[in-house]
Amino acid sequence: MSKESAIGVFDSGLGGLCAVRALAELLPHENIIYFGDTGRVPYGSKSREIIRKYTAQDASFLLSHGVKAILAACGTVSSNALECIEALTSNPVFGVVEDAAREAYDASHSKRIGVIGTQATVNSGIFKRKIEERDPQAVVLQSACPLFVPLVEYGFTAEGDEITRLACERYLAHFRGEVDTLILGCTHFPILEKAIASALPGVALINPASAAARAMAKTLGKKNLLSERAEKGEIRYFVSDEPARFAAEGKIFLGKDFEIKAEKIEIDKF
Ligand code: DGL
Repeated sequence: MSKESAIGVFDSGLGGLCAVRALAELLPHENIIYFGDTGRVPYGSKSREIIRKYTAQDASFLLSHGVKAILAACGTVSSNALECIEALTSNPVFGVVEDAAREAYDASHSKRIGVIGTQATVNSGIFKRKIEERDPQAVVLQSACPLFVPLVEYGFTAEGDEITRLACERYLAHFRGEVDTLILGCTHFPILEKAIASALPGVALINPASAAARAMAKTLGKKNLLSERAEKGEIRYFVSDEPARFAAEGKIFLGKDFEIKAEKIEIDKF
């Protein structure tokens, strides 16, 4: 493995782009290979067995590109299948749970923390467990918000979008006055950050992808695995369905500084 190899990042769809954006800001000289499993999204409503099978295939695809480290930029994968990636490689593997749980605990004054995620993430109870390991007195309230995923995938992301506002109201009203910090435990959710913030004024929102990107930058630095190239790194995008739609939606989210040309791959071959 070379320090000039790319960093591999994957998610079931667009959500992991939150991590790409954070990594590109923190580590602009790194090459990144992104895989969005757009043909099989959502993962969060699937069984643990299927999530683990998909995870192994996604990681195998990234490893076929010789990546030096993998970030599972997906709350569902991180909470149900991280060890399936670790079984395939001795290179560093990162998820989005550990650091978000720590940041949320540190940010909360009342130690009453909310967690939203997919059904599979909430069922795993992993964020709650991680926070309670730090402080058994902390109160953690969880809710699955599965509709947020298609809202993001189908582009209902503009500020003030009425459908998204109603979904936020339905899913989040019960957190009002109950928590002072909320973990956006699915990487699709930071794309709806403004709508979520309007539904929960004054609540600190924790973005798990940024927390993971910071941890990854730190660990790769310590392991002397950061690239030494002087020029900006290249980001390549792969998807399992419809590259054009992914590029269009992804661009809205990543902004004009990112050029997205996605390539379609047959993920079943991995
Ligand atoms: N972005 C994902 C997550 O963080 C998955 C959404 C889904 O595929 O259901 O959980």
